Amino acid sequence: MELPFSESYRIKMVEPIRKSTRQEREQWIKEAKYNLFMLKSDHVFIDLLTDSGTGAMSDKQWSELMLGDESYAGARSYYKMKAAIKDILGFDYFLPTHQGRAAENVLFSTIVKEGDVLPGNSHFDTTKGHIEYRRAFAPDCTIDAAADTQLQLPFKGEMDLDKLEKVLRETPHEKIPCVVLTITNNTAGGQPVSMKNIRDVSALCRKYDVKLLLDSARFAENAYFIKTREEGYADKTIKEIVKEIYSYADIMTMSSKKDAIVNMGGFVAFKDEELWKKCQMFCVMNEGFITYGGMSGRDMNALAQGLDEGTEFDTLETRIKQVEYLGKKLDEYGIPYQRPAGGHAIFVDAKQILTRVPKEEFIAQTLGVELYLEAGIRGVEIGSILADRDPVTRENRYPRLELLRLAIPRRTYTNNHMDVIAAALKNVYDRRESITRGYKITYEAPVMRHFTVELEKLG
Ligand code: F0G
Repeated sequence: MELPFSESYRIKMVEPIRKSTRQEREQWIKEAKYNLFMLKSDHVFIDLLTDSGTGAMSDKQWSELMLGDESYAGARSYYKMKAAIKDILGFDYFLPTHQGRAAENVLFSTIVKEGDVLPGNSHFDTTKGHIEYRRAFAPDCTIDAAADTQLQLPFKGEMDLDKLEKVLRETPHEKIPCVVLTITNNTAGGQPVSMKNIRDVSALCRKYDVKLLLDSARFAENAYFIKTREEGYADKTIKEIVKEIYSYADIMTMSSKKDAIVNMGGFVAFKDEELWKKCQMFCVMNEGFITYGGMSGRDMNALAQGLDEGTEFDTLETRIKQVEYLGKKLDEYGIPYQRPAGGHAIFVDAKQILTRVPKEEFIAQTLGVELYLEAGIRGVEIGSILADRDPVTRENRYPRLELLRLAIPRRTYTNNHMDVIAAALKNVYDRRESITRGYKITYEAPVMRHFTVELEKLG
């Protein structure tokens, strides 16, 4: 008999989580103004809000914490992180930051000015926020296929080369500080980008003499998909694939809270010494001295160890198979989601489920609240609340997709939890026809309203 798949780790420490009653949850979500970010984590049973900083560190990572060097300048921990970034990713220069968006802030403070254009494949919301806040533009050049949730494509997060070339051709050269390629493409459903696409985007950047920035939060998951789906890579190690990926890039921003499996941390890395030097000022000003930036020594140690573990095939296989497992359960129940299952999350297609809720009443948010009420499971809306208002017209933007993202933290939950998530969704799915109204906004911040929005239930 063929042996079934199982995790490449065993569990040494556990953290209790608590179930609640529907009545309790109704009260709590009302107090949270129907914003899932505003719930206390104690009021959540299975937390799929994000896979960012929520993973379980390994025994070796916890050991590294004890070895941290907290010197203000030139700490051993800085050099450990520097060696890992050089060995695994191939960059000579970097600045540590407290997380990914801080890396964006340091970089974009240096290179982006008003009126600039930074094309990309579905910029992540903080990336877009940092660009638009500087009155620059972030044209989306993702392939159209990404918007059809039922289309089964191996690399559904890719950049459309024609769209990208059009932007590069029609924009004055000095207005393009860089192209942003996000691997994997979070917003489009945790969908990967092929090595061929990375290579082609890089070639276009060279043709137009523009720098290529890889937004790299989930670069290792992307490498796993290249190994398992792209011809010619099956026999290469994840680390070899990662090296090739970064051979095409000039800059990377990293949220280490994802594929480096730490609770906090990030960095921006450069091939070019001059740009590294230019960015140092904003690092010192906003984060900290250049050898610790926004991080403590112990966290830099854990990050270095996490980069190594996170680029091991077994770690990635265990993780991605769990996401796939949840996807298969949803298939059994006929629940539509962005296909194929993404690297870090399942993106449930709320528009196809809650067909009676008008888009002005926030379809994916409505589904998110229903799932919380059903079983205390917290996902996150990737829909029109996240899409924000158009910076020029201030009109609501209604994206083609209304998704409820169920992000799976690394090494944290078991497949029994996946079964509960799928069953809870099925229960909501079975009563979908009875859900006809959504929410209206009673408060929103001028930029990135998603996190602090307040809502009122309609109907
Ligand atoms: N880029 C991508 C692709 C991301 O997914 C994130 C964060 C960031 C940059 C910013 O990094 O959070 O460390 O400041 N994504 C998290 C998420 C928040 O839930 O998807 P950060």
